[in-house]
Amino acid sequence: MAMTADDVVQRCRAALGEHTPVLAVRDVLDDLVSDPGELERAVGPVGEGGITAVYRAEELTILRVAWTPGMAINPHEHRMWAVIGMYGGQEDNAFYRRVPGGLEPAGGREVQSGEVLVLGDDVVHSVANSRREFAVALHVYGGDFFSAERSEWTFGTFEERPRDVEATMRLFDEANARWRAEQ
Ligand SMILES: [Fe+2]
Repeated sequence: MAMTADDVVQRCRAALGEHTPVLAVRDVLDDLVSDPGELERAVGPVGEGGITAVYRAEELTILRVAWTPGMAINPHEHRMWAVIGMYGGQEDNAFYRRVPGGLEPAGGREVQSGEVLVLGDDVVHSVANSRREFAVALHVYGGDFFSAERSEWTFGTFEERPRDVEATMRLFDEANARWRAEQ
């Protein structure tokens, strides 16, 4: 029987009951991204860049995130653990350390289709898609991603401000318009 979005949700919810939920979720995503075609059929095909909520609850959020080619999202924190399971394209993650007055760069990791990235509660990262294809991933968070208070920082100046979800949505709109115009 074909896997459904509900199967994905149930497997992640079951992982929350394990001894170390974040690692149990990592194992679930390791398995899911090993068959990108089946995962895409379960959560739906990507037509443009954006964030689609697969599941949202107090203790767990599951998003399908598709980064538009050429897009970059400024540094931000989540204040909850996150597990990213790539199943199309590549995410370029850059990491940062908090320092007085801002941030300083602290390395990075390119995550490719079939790979899983675990982020701790206190991680600050930015994400870019430098390829000419959508970067598609399942993002699983150990809390309610949409209601949590958190910060973001401007690229370059690293000035801290409250997370602005509408600004993020505008970034997707602008990137999608640019990408359409290039086609
Ligand atoms: Fe993030």
